[in-house]
Amino acid sequence: MAKLTVKDLNVRGKRVLMRVDYNVPMEEKDGHMVINDATRIEETLPTLHLLIKQGAKIILMAHLGRPKGQRDPSLSLRPVAAKLADLLGRPVAFVDDCIGEKVEKTVGVLQPGDVLLLENVRYYNEEEANDPVFAEKLARLADVYVNDAFGAAHRAHASTEGVARFIAKGGGLCAAGLLMERELKFLGDELENPARPFVVILGGAKVSDKIKVIDRLLEKADTILIGGAMAYTFKLALGFKVGKSLVEADKTDVAKSALDKAKARGVQLLLPTDNIVATPVKTDKLNKKGKPVIELTNPRPLTEPNIPDTEEGVDIGPATIKSFGDIVRGAKTILWNGPMGIFEDPRFAEGTFGIARMVAEATKQNGAKSIIGGGDSVKAINKAGLGDQVTFMSTGGGASLEFLEGRVLPGVAALGDNA
Ligand code: 3PG
Repeated sequence: MAKLTVKDLNVRGKRVLMRVDYNVPMEEKDGHMVINDATRIEETLPTLHLLIKQGAKIILMAHLGRPKGQRDPSLSLRPVAAKLADLLGRPVAFVDDCIGEKVEKTVGVLQPGDVLLLENVRYYNEEEANDPVFAEKLARLADVYVNDAFGAAHRAHASTEGVARFIAKGGGLCAAGLLMERELKFLGDELENPARPFVVILGGAKVSDKIKVIDRLLEKADTILIGGAMAYTFKLALGFKVGKSLVEADKTDVAKSALDKAKARGVQLLLPTDNIVATPVKTDKLNKKGKPVIELTNPRPLTEPNIPDTEEGVDIGPATIKSFGDIVRGAKTILWNGPMGIFEDPRFAEGTFGIARMVAEATKQNGAKSIIGGGDSVKAINKAGLGDQVTFMSTGGGASLEFLEGRVLPGVAALGDNA
């Protein structure tokens, strides 16, 4: 059943507690934490503008990183308040806690249209434990609950799940924000009855991370294109040599059963026919874990399907870019999750960027709906400068994957139904 959305609410003069996913990448520069990518903040602006226009008193809560109940100053949301104020073009108040007297006092003096950001909810262990006492303290701050944190909706935590139950118990409404609504539309409704051909592109390191998604999409897709290191586990399952490529040798049965299921359902499941390979060489340098840094040397295309013992597959090759690209260009619906190679290294980025260009082309010239399923694929599309040329990019990582697996996300389930 469809969920209530913020558009269904009358929030004038009401205290609206809004969960957002402001878990943004940050780094320290000159003693300050600086936000490297504000996409997740920007994506909440439509909901915020709507609430401001309607005269709500807005209380934002979010997590940052995994401080495990400690007040780690490098994981404070204070820099996010400043960034949000910039983006909104109006002041955003910040309070260095998320429950208790100080917070309640600050909330008590909010005026319609005011925006307040609370400190990292994960400074309390009770957040991840979904502790009812903690959730009730959060709920006390508000009349209405809005969840716009799709990226955290797979967590049954106090700020994503427990709080909604308390607000509802007190007679308050619990609704999806506009970002949450869009995520559910594109990753959910649009893929239920997709325009065909429906082409799925899956990459990334591990088959085990994606197998449930593959399994579910085998019920829907016309073609599934597999790239990234997980393709080597499929290759191994088919009896090819994969050299020193990253594989999950204990997951070949899983790969095999996906191949069998594809055959039985008449779904094309395609693997790379050529690769870019490189020779991994141990260096004297040590990484953060104290292990020797491995350098990938001598990169070159390999047309032979068997990868020599000394070599590692690091990207799809030119023939695969072309054959995958031809299929992508003819698609009417595209779902992409996971890069085709180690795109962070420019020498191994062409597979991912090449596919990104084809996805953009299909969107523009074939009228395809292109949906990018979050995480590394979003980073890759943005790095290729094509972020504005696809239909939708999810702000979720783990949440997108769980949702694509067909799982009910606790943060969504907790919202009210639109009767
Ligand atoms: C994310 O970045 O995927 C979300 O913010 C969830 O973060 P978590 O994996 O630490 O719960």
